[in-house]
Amino acid sequence: MFRTNTCGELRLADAGKKVTLAGWVQRVRKMGGMTFLDLRDRYGITQVVFEQTSDSALNEAANHLGREYVVQVTGTVAERESKNAKNPTGDIEIIADSLRVLNPSEVPPFTIEDESDGGDDLRMKFRYLDLRRNPVRRNLELRHRMTMETRRYLDSKGFLEIETPMLVGSTPEGARDFVVPSRMNPGQFYALPQSPQTLKQLLMVSGMDRYFQIVKCFRDEDLRADRQPEFTQIDCEMSFIEQNDVLELFEGMAKHLFKEIRGIELTEPFIRMPWADAMKYYGSDKPDLRFGMKFVEVDDILKGHGFSVFDNAAYIGGIVAKGAAGYTRKQLDALTDFVKRPQIGAKGLVYARVAEDGSVKSSVDKFYDQETLKALAAKMQAEPGDLILIMSGDDVMRTRKQLCELRLEMGRQLGLRDKNKFACLWVVDFPMFEWSDEEQRLMAMHHPFTHPKDEDIPLLDTDPAAVRADAYDMVINGVEVGGGSIRIHDAALQAKMFEILGFTPEKAQEQFGFLMNAFKYGAPPHGGLAYGLDRWVSLFAGLDSIRDCIAFPKNNSGRDVMLDAPAALDQKQLDELCLELAPEKEEK
Ligand code: AMO
Repeated sequence: MFRTNTCGELRLADAGKKVTLAGWVQRVRKMGGMTFLDLRDRYGITQVVFEQTSDSALNEAANHLGREYVVQVTGTVAERESKNAKNPTGDIEIIADSLRVLNPSEVPPFTIEDESDGGDDLRMKFRYLDLRRNPVRRNLELRHRMTMETRRYLDSKGFLEIETPMLVGSTPEGARDFVVPSRMNPGQFYALPQSPQTLKQLLMVSGMDRYFQIVKCFRDEDLRADRQPEFTQIDCEMSFIEQNDVLELFEGMAKHLFKEIRGIELTEPFIRMPWADAMKYYGSDKPDLRFGMKFVEVDDILKGHGFSVFDNAAYIGGIVAKGAAGYTRKQLDALTDFVKRPQIGAKGLVYARVAEDGSVKSSVDKFYDQETLKALAAKMQAEPGDLILIMSGDDVMRTRKQLCELRLEMGRQLGLRDKNKFACLWVVDFPMFEWSDEEQRLMAMHHPFTHPKDEDIPLLDTDPAAVRADAYDMVINGVEVGGGSIRIHDAALQAKMFEILGFTPEKAQEQFGFLMNAFKYGAPPHGGLAYGLDRWVSLFAGLDSIRDCIAFPKNNSGRDVMLDAPAALDQKQLDELCLELAPEKEEK
């Protein structure tokens, strides 16, 4: 037997047992004539002692161990004199009587400790060493438990796990595709799926009724903390359902995960907030509801007093930061700089402090008398000790989004975005389309297969921009953890949708003929949702970036620095694929 136990297993009750352990050298310390070795594996750390009295060859070998050597140790479990309550194996140690070095190690490029001295790039280059560290390993363990619980829940609800292909055709909607040249079909390309959307719909046409897949998806888009070019969806689809059935089933799954993984019992139904309200009150389609600071529109109070910035604004709205009237001038200037940053792009910020006596002092006092400022405080339900922050702009949506950034920043500064608190909601009734300045046409906000709300179908001909969709997102702590919709299952409605999106009938047939044809053969009403697994795991682990719950992630430029990918192909490969590279564009 290679080992009798793992390094996290032995307890006081095992004292006296002869055991063999194997693992990595975490640390070696010499004290007096004795050598102490902390032996580590995935399960924990066990202390091994090489006593002075044992044979000198053994002591000698122990003294030559370096960090991260792989060793096998045999010895007897003994009660420790000085116990370590912080370590589950801290009551015992192994009195060694043999040691075998299975593999030496060079000095690792950073320390394999919970708090490592390795910078981000170095840790990514040596990710296999980074994964030896507890915090990173724990994230992968959590991820494993979440996928197991997901399978358990969906299996119990009758879902079938079905795999769909990774080499599919390119679709023009959504993000950019990653494409793969086909050697056997020169000049032609597969695309890696951005999601198995159309395939899962075809599975519904096939009568599979309930499908799921824990599946890799690929999107060539700009990266952020919660976006990777390849990521994992828990992708689901159901037949013969209405929107409410989908929301209930997946709210049930969310509650199941909270209970099983975090031990949190969520008893209340999740709020269902129409998209229009989310934008009006929080300036975001993924509001963080761990805290209030709901927007209040105050143009009725602040317009018409000679302050031209407000008088000419299309939108004036604000938030109340509870108990923040003590913000100093310096802090307020910093907030103003924050909203003026190019990423946010606001012109400025107006503030008003509500004093203990109820009087209000603002940065634009010369335009407003006490009565108006008190009316402002009353409308915003600001109390003595509160700080009012107001923003305005000539574009309603843009200003709301700017105010959203300020709200999130204030939430952060006031410590209201506690990672151990969770606020879950559904955002529903998304608009069907959004205008794309880049494409100069309407684009599907979710995707072109989303069903419009029945009552809005007549608007498709008269005012498509006003059409709402049977689409929904689940949002937790300001993170979109999943999204889905009821689908169109009628070939004629689907064709109309493509028409509105600017496809000619020929182009629609070329790109999506397979789906529209399938709809001619008895497609059931269906709908579904996909959760972002990486986002769920990072939320439960309290991570700032989804990278930390992915074994081998890409960096912000989409590179795998460990594998050094992407990389150039050699000429032979290019020739086989009939590919010729265009000359590199000169940097401007
Ligand atoms: P959607 O595009 O909203 O819907 O994606 C579903 C969920 O996947 C996660 N997600 C991502 N996670 C990490 N990195 C990314 N680049 C990334 N992009 C998306 C999010 C998101 O909510 N086919 C539809 C689903 C459906 O309608 O059933 C779809 O893909 O958590």
